[in-house]
Amino acid sequence: MAYRDIYSQWQSDPEGFWMGASRAIDWTRSSSRAFFDQGPVGEWFADGMVNTCWNAIDRHVAAGHGDRIAVIHDSAMTGQVARMTYAELQDRVARLAGVLAAHGVGMGDRVIIYMPMIPEALQAMLACARIGAIHSVVFGGFAAHELAVRIDDAQPKAILAASCGLEPNRTVPYKPLLDKALDEARHKPGLCVVHQRPECTADMTPGRDLDWDAAVASATPVDCVPVAGNHPAYILYTSGTTGQPKGVVRHTAGHLVALAWSVPQIYDIGPGDVFFVASDVGWVVGHSYIVYGPLIAGATTVIFEGKPVGTPDAGTFWRIVADHKVKSFFTAPTAIRAVKRDDPQGGLIGNYDLSSLRALFLAGERADPDTITWAEHHLKVPVIDHWWQTETGWPIAANPLGAGLLPVRKGSPSVPMPGYAVHVLDEAGHPVAPGTLGAIALKLPLPPGTLPTLWNAEDRFRKAYLDHFPGYYETGDAGFVDDDGYVFIMARTDDVINVAGHRLSTGAMEEVLSAHPAVAECAVIGVADPLKGQAPVGLLCLKKGVTATSQQVMTEVVAMVRDRIGPVAAFKTACVVDRLPKTRSGKILRATMAKIADGEEVKTPATIDDPAILDEIRAALAGVGYPCKR
Ligand code: COA
Ligand code: AMP
Repeated sequence: MAYRDIYSQWQSDPEGFWMGASRAIDWTRSSSRAFFDQGPVGEWFADGMVNTCWNAIDRHVAAGHGDRIAVIHDSAMTGQVARMTYAELQDRVARLAGVLAAHGVGMGDRVIIYMPMIPEALQAMLACARIGAIHSVVFGGFAAHELAVRIDDAQPKAILAASCGLEPNRTVPYKPLLDKALDEARHKPGLCVVHQRPECTADMTPGRDLDWDAAVASATPVDCVPVAGNHPAYILYTSGTTGQPKGVVRHTAGHLVALAWSVPQIYDIGPGDVFFVASDVGWVVGHSYIVYGPLIAGATTVIFEGKPVGTPDAGTFWRIVADHKVKSFFTAPTAIRAVKRDDPQGGLIGNYDLSSLRALFLAGERADPDTITWAEHHLKVPVIDHWWQTETGWPIAANPLGAGLLPVRKGSPSVPMPGYAVHVLDEAGHPVAPGTLGAIALKLPLPPGTLPTLWNAEDRFRKAYLDHFPGYYETGDAGFVDDDGYVFIMARTDDVINVAGHRLSTGAMEEVLSAHPAVAECAVIGVADPLKGQAPVGLLCLKKGVTATSQQVMTEVVAMVRDRIGPVAAFKTACVVDRLPKTRSGKILRATMAKIADGEEVKTPATIDDPAILDEIRAALAGVGYPCKR
């Protein structure tokens, strides 16, 4: 069925549409209806009984597809490629679930997963799903403190980790980071299962730490345990406006139905097809389309450990597409920009047979038209921008390859997917005319698979997403919808920035900078970066009588952000200023400073306290290379 028919079918009968979609899932007990008007925004398939792991693995084995490849691990870091069938995956996951169950981890218990891009990370998630435990994966590029914050919030009974991750030019020992986080956290889980990688083995704490391979080898496999449709499948923390991350909750049944619908319809992936998503299991993209989505569809997923460039070169993605006969490939625009920078003529692309590739999907940040044009020209397949968030778990707007592509409009992630009623509102909450910029809000209820609340923080959920525009979910993005219904996402409306497709909070960085003894006041802004989309820059006002030099303080705050938040923050630039520009009511004018850093024309805000400060800011930013000469 074509997109317009699908969307109008959903509009005319949402309940029937989602009940129909739910038939792609195996249920222990079908839900009596799709939508339940309960909780802050409603819940989906709440009285059904279902298991995610069964739907991702066991049902394919039971249907006779145990020999099909489920997972290809392609590590550009070690040069190794490993394949695992659905039957092998079932055995590993059932045993790992057995290890957890034998240590008292069961229904509703939280399990934190802190692992790099290795198949064990996927197995860890599925093992939790098998027994109804709620996982929370923490991205490996976060520092020990961020891990500790998540441990205290999620209160896990167990932690699943690897001894190390592999980054270009360095091994990242995860276990010492985990030990440091456990020292810092108030909550102390009793069990850590650690996968020892040969590149760097970890010291173990007797009585608490178990060796993964030994434990799995001797474990008794356990079966899938059915859970209620509204049982939380996982918590995934994401950046908000403060240093305290938001624990996005995903309910089990809605998640299954949304992924079972979106994998074939949007990405055109079905049983036996190979889907390559170059992201990380620590992000929502990894949850939905590296781990769960392709397996629910009975497809093969590629777990890629490496970078788009430098491991060993800008041809790595194309080698993987050719070697594994990838049908759909999904990554962040920043990754393609990195490839384009190293191989502008696309010379390396010609070395590989890309005949299996049907489309390149981009998300995580705005796909700039230059990048799309370059990729279309060299790959000769459609390049599809699509827009979504950790909160929604699957695309809000996309161009559905499986349902028949609509014409691509560069700069737009195309059209709303069924379940999403996208509205553009002015500050007072009134809809604006097509083509007019405003806040993007989604009319409630949201579709299956989206967040029902935040973990242990329902008030924050209401305040962050529901209160501003009653009856809507506020996305935090600003943009417009054109006359033909194409959505354009232009900016964030809050203090969240997007660095290399990673969502980061400037507020969290400001909290770290403020903790420096010499810093009286500070602001962190996101400035345009040709590779990473945005980069954070800190502006610091020092306390009177500080003896340290400005250079010393700047170096120290850079190290502090790396140590407290992690290398992923990519916080490399700070400058010292005498004063920060503020409104007369004392609000720091971050957006004005970001415009100065980007070299945009700046109108002096009418509410500014002292317009002369803007020249001081201009000079300070010029001193650290902004606006950068591109
Ligand atoms: N574990 C430990 N450290 C990690 C890490 C991990 N899993 N992932 C990243 N880091 C570190 C990197 O080593 C780097 O450290 P450095 O400052 O010592 O160099 C830092 O975090 C920043 O990493 P990254 O943002 O990946 O930048 P990069 O300079 O290494 O690479 C790109 C630049 C564009 C090639 C890279 O950002 C990229 O491929 N991004 C893809 C983004 C993506 O997939 N986003 C998911 C949304 S779909
Ligand atoms: P995350 O929750 O980390 O996936 O980040 C979600 C945010 O990234 C969105 O709210 C947007 O601000 C941004 N984003 C993701 N995809 C796109 C896209 N295709 N175009 C523009 N912005 C995007």
